[in-house]
Amino acid sequence: MRAGQQFTRRGGTVAVAADDQQPVEQPAARGVCEELARNMASGWAHTEAHDLPPIPQAGRTAARRAALSARFPGERLVVPAGNLRIRSNDTEYPFRASTEYAYLTGDLKEDGVLVLEPADGGHEAALYRLPRSDKENGEFWLDGQGELWAGRRRSLTEAGALYGIPCRDVRTAAGLLRSAGGPVRVVRGHDTGIEAALADMTTAETDEELRVFLSELRLVKDAFEIGELQKAVDSTVRGFEDVVKVLDKAEATSERYIEGTFFLRARVEGNDVGYGSICAAGPHACTLHWVRNDGDVRSGDLLLLDAGVETHSLYTADVTRTLPINGTYTDIQRKIYDAVYASQEAGIAAVKPGAKFRDFHDASQHVLAEKLVEWGLLEGPVERVLELGLQRRWTLHGTGHMLGMDVHDCAAARREAYVDGTLEPGMCLTVEPGLYFQTDDLTVPEEYRGIGVRIEDDILVTEDGNRNMSAGLPRTSTEVEAWMARLKG
Ligand code: GLY
Ligand code: MN
Ligand code: MN
Repeated sequence: MRAGQQFTRRGGTVAVAADDQQPVEQPAARGVCEELARNMASGWAHTEAHDLPPIPQAGRTAARRAALSARFPGERLVVPAGNLRIRSNDTEYPFRASTEYAYLTGDLKEDGVLVLEPADGGHEAALYRLPRSDKENGEFWLDGQGELWAGRRRSLTEAGALYGIPCRDVRTAAGLLRSAGGPVRVVRGHDTGIEAALADMTTAETDEELRVFLSELRLVKDAFEIGELQKAVDSTVRGFEDVVKVLDKAEATSERYIEGTFFLRARVEGNDVGYGSICAAGPHACTLHWVRNDGDVRSGDLLLLDAGVETHSLYTADVTRTLPINGTYTDIQRKIYDAVYASQEAGIAAVKPGAKFRDFHDASQHVLAEKLVEWGLLEGPVERVLELGLQRRWTLHGTGHMLGMDVHDCAAARREAYVDGTLEPGMCLTVEPGLYFQTDDLTVPEEYRGIGVRIEDDILVTEDGNRNMSAGLPRTSTEVEAWMARLKG
């Protein structure tokens, strides 16, 4: 169900009635009779909200913009939210604002553009957004982006109060940016219309510096962000509990029952899942990005569930548990699980301020290499195994990553700031070692094949060590079994 005709969209950017663009097509031109057009143009109540309080993080977003301003004095900085993307024909994917835009504004609406305009001693921020629909010209009911179809939007005045930034009509943004002089940078990858408008005025290298800076700015989380991450984790804990309670239904259907159950929790308590849930039963656990989730769920197998709720403010958890579907690990499953647990314990213990980011990875990998040598799957000594990385046939991936608004947060940060950097209080990261024995791996005894185990927790670096934000879920094999028995009643 869509509006019969739509106003023009250009390059993904809304382009309705812009003063530098095509005039709005009048209702008569769309076969709407004048009487209906007049009727639809009037008789609507004024609904402007007054004295709206700012969003809770408005002070934080202002501080982040100030840090950005200080890094790029005298330059115009453009940070788009992004646009709706077509899924098929006239249906769109659910919209998720760019992390950079949400981080700097708190706004989550499509088509928004934050502009930091150089001004005396810093920058002035302006938020370009789509305003309320015009009722006079029929836009509100004849355009696909009209409020009758898309729902009431915040007026520019309302949005200004909420986000603490003066707001302007986004349909003027491209023209204004094109005609403005002076150096400019844009965060690429979100809004092709805005990028096209700036094409002759920006370079990939200078734009990348802006993206890198914003990525590094997010490495240390403020108190608001830590609170949001904890909310994400707490909802995720409840989502895992939901899944355990319906494992019998999953056995009767497929992994999709698990995906749907977790998604329900994510949508009811948060915005969405922060990434495609991995609901991997049996050997699917050995496929690291198993998101098809269409396999059988069988008693006697393990379920590797890697899932995270994303909050309304777009912070996501990233948690994995590997559970015995019938509630009890077999001997070989327990042996592998306990090894991964020991590895995770060593990794978590290495997370503290002043430690190198790599330390927890090294500590975790050391334990896994020891186990693989102990089990006779690799020839020692362990130091040689680690030096050559031989354990990687079964450990497959890195032991963790920064976590925040993106599940793999701060991904554009420079090596020296992240991978080769030092942990600081306020950083949040995952510790997630795993062992994966593929079904066709002839180098291991048959009993190992098809078993994949990962345990993943979200760890906050504190002043004196760390806090496991996802400690609400059990981790040892015996605690997991007791927890499942309790939940299954
Ligand atoms: N869920 C993706 C990851 O663990 O990194
Ligand atoms: Mn994960
Ligand atoms: Mn992860």
